[in-house]
Amino acid sequence: PEDIRVYEFAEKLKRPMSDIIKVLFDLGMMMTKNDFLGADEIEILSEEFGVEVTIVDPKDEFNYVEETEVEDINAVERPPIITIMGHVDHGKTSLLDAIRKAKVTEGEAGGITQHIGAYTVEQNNKAITFIDTPGHAAFSSMRQRGTDITDVVVIVVAADDGVKPQTLEVINIAKESGAPVIVALTKMDKETANPDLVKGQMAEHGISPVDWGGDVEFVPVSSKTGMGIDELLENILLTAEVLELKANPEAPAKAAVVESSLEKGRGPVATVIVQNGTLKVGDNVVCGSSYGRVKALVNENGKQIKSVGPSHTSVVVGLNEVPAAGEIMMAMNSDKEAKEYAHKRYEYERNKELSKSTKSTLEDMTSMI
Ligand code: GTP
Ligand code: MG
Repeated sequence: PEDIRVYEFAEKLKRPMSDIIKVLFDLGMMMTKNDFLGADEIEILSEEFGVEVTIVDPKDEFNYVEETEVEDINAVERPPIITIMGHVDHGKTSLLDAIRKAKVTEGEAGGITQHIGAYTVEQNNKAITFIDTPGHAAFSSMRQRGTDITDVVVIVVAADDGVKPQTLEVINIAKESGAPVIVALTKMDKETANPDLVKGQMAEHGISPVDWGGDVEFVPVSSKTGMGIDELLENILLTAEVLELKANPEAPAKAAVVESSLEKGRGPVATVIVQNGTLKVGDNVVCGSSYGRVKALVNENGKQIKSVGPSHTSVVVGLNEVPAAGEIMMAMNSDKEAKEYAHKRYEYERNKELSKSTKSTLEDMTSMI
């Protein structure tokens, strides 16, 4: 609503402009047809004319436009994006480390020990992108925002510990998301590992193993010995193939933030996974209410890159503020457009906050009466 002018508001209400101007005048507001209406004025006018004003998230508008444009003949196959979830200490991080160690050569990794939010590995010349555990928070946030990017969920269950409360939570999240599921039975090197017991528990909760006549692959793995890692990756690729995942590398970039922070010397940085298009150094981007020009892209191996394509990950430097995990980053046509859009998003979030606080004040008042 923040960018609406008096005459546009009149058109929307199908009212003569003079009516609108008169009401404003009566309230002591001198406005002409080209003036912008603020949130307060809109609220007053809405009441006066008995209409309800809904605030539309500019992101939804954008997505709408984009979806009608997509169905793209230029879309090509893209790598799958995998989220690993499971109960505490069941071996998620160890599994991701083992995969990365097995698939990324020493030189490439550049001896980086620092934590990485997302990375891509190759199996038989096919790329697979993983979101690391903090991705879990981003995952929930993205689900809330309806911008989930997960193609396949890997549920980790320790073979020596079995189904636990968080395993059940994860099963529900996976079911709701509709993404295909693969189960990784971890810690198979342990003597107390009992995969059949775990299969039985999982089957009880609707996750039925293929070898029991169900439809979910269970892959026994050990992050200690490296057992089963290749099988797991093969399974992920087979599952992804069926999904026929596609993206258009030529489209304007759209990427999801999996984590973000404020870094000394670099300012706000965001680790993103590109959903569509190609993100390039120099792109004007908007990311929620933050925006900027991409100053640098740094890949999972700490190398500066010029661009990053669909399903691949990068750290983005150049935003004016730290965006929230789960937020969507989009390339815009100009610096001006990025700024305007960021401002719209800021106003949108603020209006949402305001309406929330008005509501709670009302509730507080009624509860006091
Ligand atoms: P949170 O992030 O805290 O939820 O834990 P996580 O699921 O990431 O588990 P993590 O990988 O940190 O592993 C937890 C413990 O299990 C660590 O002590 C690991 O060394 C151990 N562990 C993980 N995988 C294996 C495995 O395959 N074999 C054995 N023997 N131990 C494992
Ligand atoms: Mg972990």
